[in-house]
Amino acid sequence: MSILSIQGLSKTYQSGSRKLTVLDDVNFEISSGETISIVGPSGSGKTTLLGLCAGLDSASTGSIRLNGQALENLSEDQRAAVRSQHIGFIFQNFQLLPTLTALENVMVPLELKKRKDARTKALELLDKVGLGDRATHYPTQLSGGEQQRVSIARAFANEPKILFADEPTGNLDTETGEMIERLIFDLNKENGTTLVLVTHDLELAAKTQRIIHIKGGKIQEDNHA
Ligand SMILES: Nc1ncnc2c1ncn2[C@@H]1O[C@H](COP(=O)(O)OP(=O)(O)OP(=O)(O)O)[C@@H](O)[C@H]1O
Ligand SMILES: [Mg+2]
Repeated sequence: MSILSIQGLSKTYQSGSRKLTVLDDVNFEISSGETISIVGPSGSGKTTLLGLCAGLDSASTGSIRLNGQALENLSEDQRAAVRSQHIGFIFQNFQLLPTLTALENVMVPLELKKRKDARTKALELLDKVGLGDRATHYPTQLSGGEQQRVSIARAFANEPKILFADEPTGNLDTETGEMIERLIFDLNKENGTTLVLVTHDLELAAKTQRIIHIKGGKIQEDNHA
Protein backbone atom coordinates (compact mmCIF):
# COMPACT_ATOMS: atom_id res chain seq x y z
CA MET A 1 0.00 0.00 0.00
CA SER A 2 1.33 3.41 -0.94
CA ILE A 3 1.59 5.99 1.81
CA LEU A 4 3.18 8.71 -0.32
CA SER A 5 2.78 9.18 -4.03
CA ILE A 6 4.48 12.03 -5.90
CA GLN A 7 3.62 12.82 -9.51
CA GLY A 8 5.10 15.43 -11.82
CA LEU A 9 6.28 17.51 -8.90
CA SER A 10 8.09 20.73 -9.59
CA LYS A 11 8.97 23.82 -7.61
CA THR A 12 10.18 27.07 -9.05
CA TYR A 13 11.12 30.34 -7.38
CA GLN A 14 11.08 33.70 -9.08
CA SER A 15 14.22 35.64 -8.22
CA GLY A 16 14.04 39.03 -9.89
CA SER A 17 13.48 38.36 -13.58
CA ARG A 18 14.96 34.86 -13.35
CA LYS A 19 13.07 31.68 -12.73
CA LEU A 20 14.87 29.20 -10.52
CA THR A 21 13.78 25.58 -10.91
CA VAL A 22 14.53 23.78 -7.66
CA LEU A 23 12.56 20.57 -8.34
CA ASP A 24 11.91 19.38 -11.86
CA ASP A 25 9.33 16.66 -12.63
CA VAL A 26 9.94 14.44 -9.62
CA ASN A 27 8.02 11.15 -9.48
CA PHE A 28 8.09 8.37 -6.91
CA GLU A 29 5.95 6.26 -4.68
CA ILE A 30 6.68 5.05 -1.15
CA SER A 31 5.01 2.02 0.38
CA SER A 32 3.75 2.01 3.92
CA GLY A 33 6.50 0.78 6.25
CA GLU A 34 9.30 1.36 3.74
CA THR A 35 12.58 3.00 4.77
CA ILE A 36 14.20 5.30 2.23
CA SER A 37 16.99 7.86 2.02
CA ILE A 38 17.24 10.85 -0.24
CA VAL A 39 20.82 11.81 -1.01
CA GLY A 40 22.42 14.43 -3.22
CA PRO A 41 24.67 17.48 -3.25
CA SER A 42 23.99 20.63 -1.26
CA GLY A 43 21.37 22.74 -3.02
CA SER A 44 19.96 19.79 -5.01
CA GLY A 45 16.46 20.30 -3.58
CA LYS A 46 16.27 17.69 -0.79
CA THR A 47 14.89 19.95 1.96
CA THR A 48 12.48 21.53 -0.51
CA LEU A 49 11.23 18.08 -1.53
CA LEU A 50 10.77 16.95 2.07
CA GLY A 51 8.84 20.10 2.95
CA LEU A 52 6.50 19.60 -0.01
CA CYS A 53 5.92 15.93 0.86
CA ALA A 54 4.95 16.92 4.40
CA GLY A 55 2.56 19.64 3.22
CA LEU A 56 4.66 22.43 4.73
CA ASP A 57 4.94 24.21 1.40
CA SER A 58 3.03 24.08 -1.87
CA ALA A 59 4.32 22.84 -5.20
CA SER A 60 4.40 24.79 -8.49
CA THR A 61 3.02 21.80 -10.39
CA GLY A 62 2.28 18.17 -9.68
CA SER A 63 0.47 16.12 -7.14
CA ILE A 64 1.29 14.73 -3.71
CA ARG A 65 -0.90 12.06 -2.19
CA LEU A 66 -0.22 11.34 1.44
CA ASN A 67 -2.14 8.55 3.10
CA GLY A 68 -4.63 8.67 0.21
CA GLN A 69 -5.25 12.43 0.36
CA ALA A 70 -4.13 14.86 -2.34
CA LEU A 71 -2.43 17.63 -0.36
CA GLU A 72 -2.97 20.23 -3.10
CA ASN A 73 -6.74 19.94 -2.62
CA LEU A 74 -6.59 20.67 1.10
CA SER A 75 -6.80 24.02 2.88
CA GLU A 76 -3.91 25.11 5.11
CA ASP A 77 -5.94 24.02 8.17
CA GLN A 78 -6.67 20.62 6.66
CA ARG A 79 -3.00 20.15 5.84
CA ALA A 80 -2.10 21.06 9.42
CA ALA A 81 -4.54 18.39 10.61
CA VAL A 82 -2.92 15.79 8.32
CA ARG A 83 0.49 16.77 9.70
CA SER A 84 -0.68 16.52 13.28
CA GLN A 85 -2.31 13.11 12.71
CA HIS A 86 0.15 11.32 10.49
CA ILE A 87 3.45 13.14 10.10
CA GLY A 88 6.61 13.56 12.15
CA PHE A 89 9.18 16.03 10.87
CA ILE A 90 12.76 16.56 12.02
CA PHE A 91 13.96 19.84 10.56
CA GLN A 92 17.51 20.47 9.38
CA ASN A 93 17.49 23.66 11.47
CA PHE A 94 15.40 22.16 14.32
CA GLN A 95 12.63 24.82 14.30
CA LEU A 96 12.08 24.70 18.03
CA LEU A 97 9.83 27.38 19.49
CA PRO A 98 12.23 29.74 21.30
CA THR A 99 9.78 30.83 23.99
CA LEU A 100 9.03 27.26 25.06
CA THR A 101 11.22 24.96 27.14
CA ALA A 102 12.48 21.63 25.79
CA LEU A 103 9.61 19.88 27.56
CA GLU A 104 6.99 22.31 26.27
CA ASN A 105 8.31 21.97 22.71
CA VAL A 106 7.85 18.20 22.86
CA MET A 107 4.40 18.66 24.42
CA VAL A 108 3.09 20.74 21.49
CA PRO A 109 2.03 17.83 19.21
CA LEU A 110 0.63 15.93 22.18
CA GLU A 111 -1.47 18.89 23.28
CA LEU A 112 -2.69 19.36 19.71
CA LYS A 113 -3.98 15.83 20.01
CA LYS A 114 -5.52 16.74 23.38
CA ARG A 115 -3.65 14.03 25.22
CA LYS A 116 -4.10 14.28 28.98
CA ASP A 117 -0.74 12.61 29.59
CA ALA A 118 1.13 15.13 27.40
CA ARG A 119 3.62 16.11 30.11
CA THR A 120 4.43 12.54 31.21
CA LYS A 121 4.74 11.34 27.63
CA ALA A 122 6.94 14.31 26.65
CA LEU A 123 9.23 13.65 29.62
CA GLU A 124 9.51 10.01 28.60
CA LEU A 125 10.51 11.05 25.08
CA LEU A 126 13.11 13.52 26.37
CA ASP A 127 14.52 10.70 28.52
CA LYS A 128 14.71 8.47 25.45
CA VAL A 129 16.90 10.98 23.61
CA GLY A 130 19.06 11.44 26.72
CA LEU A 131 17.72 14.85 27.76
CA GLY A 132 15.62 14.03 30.79
CA ASP A 133 17.68 16.51 32.81
CA ARG A 134 17.26 19.36 30.31
CA ALA A 135 13.46 19.55 30.33
CA THR A 136 13.26 23.11 31.67
CA HIS A 137 15.95 24.53 29.38
CA TYR A 138 15.05 26.90 26.58
CA PRO A 139 16.44 26.24 23.07
CA THR A 140 19.09 29.00 23.44
CA GLN A 141 20.38 27.20 26.53
CA LEU A 142 20.93 23.97 24.60
CA SER A 143 23.76 22.93 22.31
CA GLY A 144 23.04 22.27 18.62
CA GLY A 145 23.01 18.51 19.14
CA GLU A 146 20.71 18.87 22.15
CA GLN A 147 18.29 21.01 20.16
CA GLN A 148 18.36 18.40 17.44
CA ARG A 149 17.44 15.72 19.97
CA VAL A 150 14.54 17.81 21.31
CA SER A 151 13.27 18.15 17.74
CA ILE A 152 13.57 14.38 17.35
CA ALA A 153 11.59 13.76 20.55
CA ARG A 154 8.94 16.18 19.27
CA ALA A 155 8.76 14.37 15.91
CA PHE A 156 8.18 11.05 17.70
CA ALA A 157 5.48 12.44 19.99
CA ASN A 158 2.41 11.92 17.82
CA GLU A 159 3.49 8.39 16.84
CA PRO A 160 3.53 9.34 13.15
CA LYS A 161 2.72 6.97 10.29
CA ILE A 162 5.52 8.60 8.34
CA LEU A 163 8.63 10.32 9.66
CA PHE A 164 10.52 12.83 7.53
CA ALA A 165 13.98 13.54 8.88
CA ASP A 166 16.27 16.15 7.35
CA GLU A 167 19.86 15.32 8.36
CA PRO A 168 18.74 13.80 11.68
CA THR A 169 22.29 13.00 12.76
CA GLY A 170 23.96 16.01 11.13
CA ASN A 171 24.90 17.75 14.36
CA LEU A 172 25.62 14.78 16.58
CA ASP A 173 28.81 13.04 17.66
CA THR A 174 29.20 9.41 16.56
CA GLU A 175 27.82 7.91 19.76
CA THR A 176 24.76 10.16 20.04
CA GLY A 177 24.20 9.79 16.29
CA GLU A 178 24.11 6.01 16.65
CA MET A 179 21.65 6.29 19.53
CA ILE A 180 19.32 8.46 17.44
CA GLU A 181 19.70 6.11 14.48
CA ARG A 182 18.61 3.19 16.68
CA LEU A 183 15.58 5.14 17.94
CA ILE A 184 14.53 6.01 14.40
CA PHE A 185 14.89 2.47 13.05
CA ASP A 186 13.16 1.03 16.15
CA LEU A 187 10.20 3.25 15.32
CA ASN A 188 10.06 1.54 11.93
CA LYS A 189 10.40 -1.97 13.36
CA GLU A 190 8.04 -1.56 16.30
CA ASN A 191 5.34 0.72 14.86
CA GLY A 192 5.84 0.21 11.12
CA THR A 193 6.59 3.91 10.75
CA THR A 194 7.63 4.79 7.20
CA LEU A 195 11.01 6.55 7.24
CA VAL A 196 12.13 9.16 4.73
CA LEU A 197 15.61 10.39 5.62
CA VAL A 198 17.63 13.09 3.94
CA THR A 199 21.30 12.61 4.68
CA HIS A 200 24.83 13.24 3.52
CA ASP A 201 25.90 10.22 5.59
CA LEU A 202 26.15 7.36 3.11
CA GLU A 203 26.56 4.80 5.91
CA LEU A 204 23.21 5.87 7.32
CA ALA A 205 21.66 5.85 3.84
CA ALA A 206 22.89 2.30 3.28
CA LYS A 207 20.82 1.16 6.26
CA THR A 208 17.56 2.06 4.50
CA GLN A 209 15.87 -0.22 1.96
CA ARG A 210 16.00 2.29 -0.84
CA ILE A 211 18.11 5.27 -1.88
CA ILE A 212 16.90 8.07 -4.14
CA HIS A 213 19.69 10.18 -5.64
CA ILE A 214 18.71 13.71 -6.52
CA LYS A 215 20.76 16.27 -8.42
CA GLY A 216 19.74 19.67 -9.72
CA GLY A 217 16.15 18.98 -8.67
CA LYS A 218 15.86 15.76 -10.68
CA ILE A 219 15.92 12.13 -9.62
CA GLN A 220 19.08 10.53 -11.00
CA GLU A 221 18.72 7.08 -9.53
CA ASP A 222 16.15 5.23 -7.43
CA ASN A 223 17.73 2.09 -6.06
CA HIS A 224 16.09 -0.61 -4.01
CA ALA A 225 18.47 -2.65 -1.86
N1 LIG B 1 12.54 30.42 -0.61
C1 LIG B 1 13.46 30.25 -1.57
N2 LIG B 1 13.63 31.16 -2.54
C2 LIG B 1 14.53 30.99 -3.51
N3 LIG B 1 15.33 29.91 -3.62
C3 LIG B 1 15.21 28.97 -2.68
C4 LIG B 1 14.28 29.08 -1.62
N4 LIG B 1 14.39 27.97 -0.85
C5 LIG B 1 15.35 27.21 -1.40
N5 LIG B 1 15.85 27.81 -2.51
C6 LIG B 1 16.91 27.29 -3.39
O1 LIG B 1 16.54 25.97 -3.74
C7 LIG B 1 17.69 25.15 -3.87
C8 LIG B 1 17.48 23.86 -3.11
O2 LIG B 1 17.48 24.13 -1.72
P1 LIG B 1 17.32 22.97 -0.65
O3 LIG B 1 17.33 23.61 0.68
O4 LIG B 1 16.15 22.13 -1.00
O5 LIG B 1 18.67 22.13 -0.90
P2 LIG B 1 19.25 20.85 -0.13
O6 LIG B 1 19.42 19.77 -1.13
O7 LIG B 1 18.42 20.56 1.05
O8 LIG B 1 20.70 21.34 0.31
P3 LIG B 1 21.56 21.03 1.66
O9 LIG B 1 22.18 19.66 1.44
O10 LIG B 1 22.60 22.12 1.65
O11 LIG B 1 20.66 21.09 2.83
C9 LIG B 1 18.87 25.96 -3.39
O12 LIG B 1 19.60 26.39 -4.51
C10 LIG B 1 18.24 27.13 -2.68
O13 LIG B 1 19.01 28.28 -2.82
MG1 LIG C 1 18.75 20.71 3.07
